[in-house]
Amino acid sequence: MRIIIIGFGTVGQAVAKILTEKEELLLKNYGFRPSIVAVVDSKGAAISHSGLNYNELYKVKYSYGSVSLHPKYGQPKMSGIDVIKNVESDIIIEATPTNIEDGEPGLSHIEAALKKKKHVITVNKGPLALALPALRELASYNNVFLRFSGSVGGGTPILDLGKICMRGDRTISIKGILNGTTNYILTKMTDSNMPMNIALKEAQKAGYAEADPTYDLEGIDAACKLVIIANWLINKPITIKDVAITGITGITLDDVQKAKKRGEAIKLI
Ligand SMILES: NC(=O)c1ccc[n+]([C@@H]2O[C@H](COP(=O)([O-])OP(=O)(O)OC[C@H]3O[C@@H](n4cnc5c(N)ncnc54)[C@H](OP(=O)(O)O)[C@@H]3O)[C@@H](O)[C@H]2O)c1
Repeated sequence: MRIIIIGFGTVGQAVAKILTEKEELLLKNYGFRPSIVAVVDSKGAAISHSGLNYNELYKVKYSYGSVSLHPKYGQPKMSGIDVIKNVESDIIIEATPTNIEDGEPGLSHIEAALKKKKHVITVNKGPLALALPALRELASYNNVFLRFSGSVGGGTPILDLGKICMRGDRTISIKGILNGTTNYILTKMTDSNMPMNIALKEAQKAGYAEADPTYDLEGIDAACKLVIIANWLINKPITIKDVAITGITGITLDDVQKAKKRGEAIKLI
């Protein structure tokens, strides 16, 4: 199975590592032999039709800052769209940063891949929150899969749980804490009396926070996830424009401590 990975940060690298380390297991259990034929970051691509080696890619990324400087397979300045159009593949994994303004660059990557009849797997919430109903239609029209289980609760896969394990049930509504960063911050403010900015820095250091923390703090990340859940589990073809959003930016240490004294807790629900 020929795979293109677009975005080689935390997620892109982790996927490439898992596909490499579990190659034998995947083959034995599923008859699936992954071959990473291209990897793209913001500066260009690395392409090999016979498959790229994860350890080499990782070394190149950390030594030179971009996979496109791979001495043998590097293609500086080659974009994700060029790669989707020109490299033979079966699946595109889209893992570029979430952008909720216009969904780019992920939206164009996903659209181009679906139009080329490639299966798409993405964790990028921007394109999904802005255009999930249209993207699902495009995937269905081109007879390919669009999958995004990792975009909501990567470690607690509620989308698959709801769709597969609860097949006989009808989900009527959903309520809960959908953003780990704000939950971490509010817990630190409550339990350790830690100011919000310090707790945020800790969350960023631990790798929980989004690249742009306002997405977490202002409730946008949680809203994106709600849109994805509503489309996938409740069959509501909504986008982020349909969601009323209130984040935690206005919450002070005093608010949190007062709530605690009342035996209550402030949470982003
Ligand atoms: N991290 C998580 O735990 C997590 C969990 C669920 C969902 N997500 C979502 O997954 C996505 C990726 O997250 P991440 O943590 O891996 O982000 P990240 O570490 O910032 O990595 C983003 C990658 O995208 C590349 N990129 C940026 N613009 C690009 C472009 N125009 N063309 C090609 N590549 C481009 C970056 O290139 P450079 O390396 O050159 O900068 C980088 O390699 C985001 O949408 C995020 O919301 C993340």
